Amino acid sequence: MAVTLEIRGLCVSTQGKEILKGVDLTVREGEFHVIMGPNGSGKTTLAKAVMGHPAYKVTAGDISVNGESIKGLAADKRAKLGLFMQFQNPVEIEGVGFVNFLRAAKESVTDGTVDFKQFMGDIKSYTEKLSITNGIIGRSLNHGFSGGEKKKAEVLQMAILKPKIAIFDEPDSGLDIDAVRAVAESINDIAAKEHTGLLVITHYNRILSYMQPQFVHIMADGRIVAEGGHELIMKLEKEGYDSFVKGRHHKE
Ligand SMILES: Nc1ncnc2c1ncn2[C@@H]1O[C@H](COP(=O)(O)OP(=O)(O)OP(=O)(O)O)[C@@H](O)[C@H]1O
Ligand SMILES: [Mg+2]
Repeated sequence: MAVTLEIRGLCVSTQGKEILKGVDLTVREGEFHVIMGPNGSGKTTLAKAVMGHPAYKVTAGDISVNGESIKGLAADKRAKLGLFMQFQNPVEIEGVGFVNFLRAAKESVTDGTVDFKQFMGDIKSYTEKLSITNGIIGRSLNHGFSGGEKKKAEVLQMAILKPKIAIFDEPDSGLDIDAVRAVAESINDIAAKEHTGLLVITHYNRILSYMQPQFVHIMADGRIVAEGGHELIMKLEKEGYDSFVKGRHHKE
């Protein structure tokens, strides 16, 4: 069954402060959405709320998968439903080998039914595509990884976990020019093979020159203030966020 993530009228608070003020967004398997927006507008908060980060409280609205609310589910249960998130600032875990981490994560989402031949094959093929060196694979998760290596490691996680809906929070930040391309092409490749729905948060056009988003959403001050196709990215490049943010004030 095709997976649909539906976000309706979502309001989210953290530390007693309202960050998201009514967000509507639907991502279906196989679709490609991009969210752009000024710093502090709530993009990461939206992604974390979808994944069930405990620090972000849903105060109104709903998040559902195939029509069933997931608001009460812990993060691991959401992953089992096929949701995946790559973090803007991935955590370092000492003492957990990267391959063991991937294996445990895969076992968790598949209830222990891991096809090891495919697992090892995916590791080999995507470490090559992403130019991840063997040294990284043998080390503890993210421990001492450079910024770019962490981002690539998260794309490798997507390749292994094969989520139905994958959220990437600035997968391009801090990457060198070749790495932006490798990351974008690997995400495209996995999404095409697995029919993954993508929600990519980014500030920059460069990564989008290697990807073909169908839907672009602009977020400002906790709301989606504009939606459209690729032409929105062009408008944004030319005009910056001012016109979008002002547009919102006119509407109110
Ligand atoms: N744990 C928290 N405690 C206090 N404030 C928070 C917390 N998390 C987020 N915020 C605030 O919520 C607002 C939105 O933050 P968020 O990280 O979602 O923005 P963003 O759109 O992802 O920005 P950026 O483009 O800089 O990554 C900011 O003002 C931020 O300071
Ligand atoms: Mg952010």
